[in-house]
Amino acid sequence: MNKQLRKAIIAGNWKMNKTPAEAKVLLEQVAPLVKDADCQVIACVPFVDLQTALEATKGTNVKIGAENCHWEESGAYTGEISAKMLTSMGVEYVVLGHSERRQYFGETDETVNKRTKAAIAAGLKPIVCVGELLWERECNITEEVIARQIKLDLFGVTAEELKNVVIAYEPVWAIGTGKTATADQAEEVCGFIRATLAKLYSQADADAVTIQYGGSMNDGNADELLSKENVDGGLIGGASLVAEKFAAIVKAASK
Ligand code: 13P
Repeated sequence: MNKQLRKAIIAGNWKMNKTPAEAKVLLEQVAPLVKDADCQVIACVPFVDLQTALEATKGTNVKIGAENCHWEESGAYTGEISAKMLTSMGVEYVVLGHSERRQYFGETDETVNKRTKAAIAAGLKPIVCVGELLWERECNITEEVIARQIKLDLFGVTAEELKNVVIAYEPVWAIGTGKTATADQAEEVCGFIRATLAKLYSQADADAVTIQYGGSMNDGNADELLSKENVDGGLIGGASLVAEKFAAIVKAASK
């Protein structure tokens, strides 16, 4: 399968930004700018913004995602949100295993795996994030790190379930730093992720998976990154908070 047959996805990851009122304003700016997009457009927003975001995007082509979910359906997990709570609202996507959660909140491949399986079971489409630290790249172990994350994070996910999983390659050193991976670096690792999936599943299964790049992707570099065979979209942080910049990236993915 070639790139043209895969679903391109541009997703904003708003992180801890925007109040509900600000979310409404931003989404009402974004929606008309991306209405003719020839790719899937998603905004992953803070939990408290979800209801407003769903209402603001009703009847548009913008889908809404959350930024995390817990693996249990309910129970004594103060501060957590279950996958079922999200689907009950109409949320379709969820970012899991983001490096900021791994770095600051003790997220491990084991918990990413549990969250991924719970999300799939509840009918959510997970965007599973993987990526190496600068130190790991310098030590030449990027592929080992990525292979380990893919194997562990997707452990127990069937080929049928894989159809609803999106992978985001986010080199940790490129996130929020303005330091983008070059298009060749992004292609190399996204291609490696596809090869790893082909070994774990089949070539056809791997060929159907949307693999995004994330890390300082913006309106200036999106064209080149998205032109690569194995880069099927983007997970956008900072630039997703500015309607015109986000829309320009969506436009680049729609070519
Ligand atoms: P930036 O686009 O701000 O570098 O963030 C990328 C990211 O972490 C998206 O999940």
